[in-house]
Amino acid sequence: MDRTQQDERLAGALTAIGEAADAEALEAQRIAALGKQGWVSAALKTLGGMTPEERQEHGPRIQGLRAAVSEAIDTRKAQLEKDALEQQLASEVLDLTLPAPALPKGSIHPVSQVMDELAEIFADMGFSVATGPEIEDDWHNFTALNMPESHPARAMHDTFYFPQDDVNQALDQGPSTAPNSPETASSSAAVGQQRRMLLRTHTSPVQIRSMVQHGAPLRIIAPGRVYRSDSDATHTPMFHQVEGLVIDEGIHLGHLKWTLETFLKAFFERDDIVLRLRPSYFPFTEPSVEVDVGWQDVKGRRVLGGNGDDPGHGWMELLGSGMVNRRVIEFAGLDADKWQGFAFGVGVDRLAMLKYGMDDLRAFFDGDGRWLAHYGFSAFDVPTLSGGVGARS
Ligand code: PHE
Repeated sequence: MDRTQQDERLAGALTAIGEAADAEALEAQRIAALGKQGWVSAALKTLGGMTPEERQEHGPRIQGLRAAVSEAIDTRKAQLEKDALEQQLASEVLDLTLPAPALPKGSIHPVSQVMDELAEIFADMGFSVATGPEIEDDWHNFTALNMPESHPARAMHDTFYFPQDDVNQALDQGPSTAPNSPETASSSAAVGQQRRMLLRTHTSPVQIRSMVQHGAPLRIIAPGRVYRSDSDATHTPMFHQVEGLVIDEGIHLGHLKWTLETFLKAFFERDDIVLRLRPSYFPFTEPSVEVDVGWQDVKGRRVLGGNGDDPGHGWMELLGSGMVNRRVIEFAGLDADKWQGFAFGVGVDRLAMLKYGMDDLRAFFDGDGRWLAHYGFSAFDVPTLSGGVGARS
């Protein structure tokens, strides 16, 4: 191949490379020029047989053939890649106006919702939320609440006790969960009795724990699970209560009534809530009052509100309460001449049923997703006093 032929060959190769439609066509061009049998390789080989003078004359030009072909290939390759990317970008345009597929979203259980509503309302009245263990000892659940062993009120609680062997074993292994109690007991038999463990039957032991831990004055609510061996449409072995406790100087029944009235009006979001206080008995309060709420018949349904004594109206028993028995204040280590208070206890599940019109308590704990889908509340609907405590279901 002489010089003219080489120049022609180069011009042809550069055109072919520039027009190569894809990587494959480009590779064919590379092999034809720079491959083992390629014409550029053949031209390079002729350099070996040349005299130094000839090589000086033809060397740079022949080397230039290789450089020109390589450069053309690189340029075309980059162009092809750029074209491919642009084509891909053009074909993969996102349509941001398309509606997104709906994702499944969780919901808040009515019991949690009501507990949040309670915390919100009582926080506004200066109450903080207190908690206590669900596995409780006899002393906190009964004795310190003025229910000594053999007190008849104990029988009404249908208590789940732990086998004493398990309790003894646990006590041997770890510190007592009731540090302030057995130390004050006189006989070792009493110690054993007071260390008896059970599932708490009410949230009232949190009263004792709060007074022992924080002293007075005190304003708490204690929502949580409680357990009784009882089961039908309106009773489940596990249910929820909220306890309220105020300890301060000069507290009287009027404070109790005002607090409950303010709470119930905010909770049921009605101004016409009327309370009726009936004398009752609890060992830990004296005097004790059962609180009823007036209801009226609205299209065959009982709706809270109005005076229960009006024609067509009635009273519904809602909660137990009273002035904290001075013996309880003393049990908790406070001076009962200085500190007085009131306490109340109410079923959270019952409040939820009344507010949101649910009729079977057992459904609360069945874990049926369909029930939750029907009655559950949006996670975004957080109760606030300014925005409203009621969930918009
Ligand atoms: N602990 C009581 C119960 O479970 C309710 C209650 C609490 C009554 C506080 C009075 C004061 O029945």
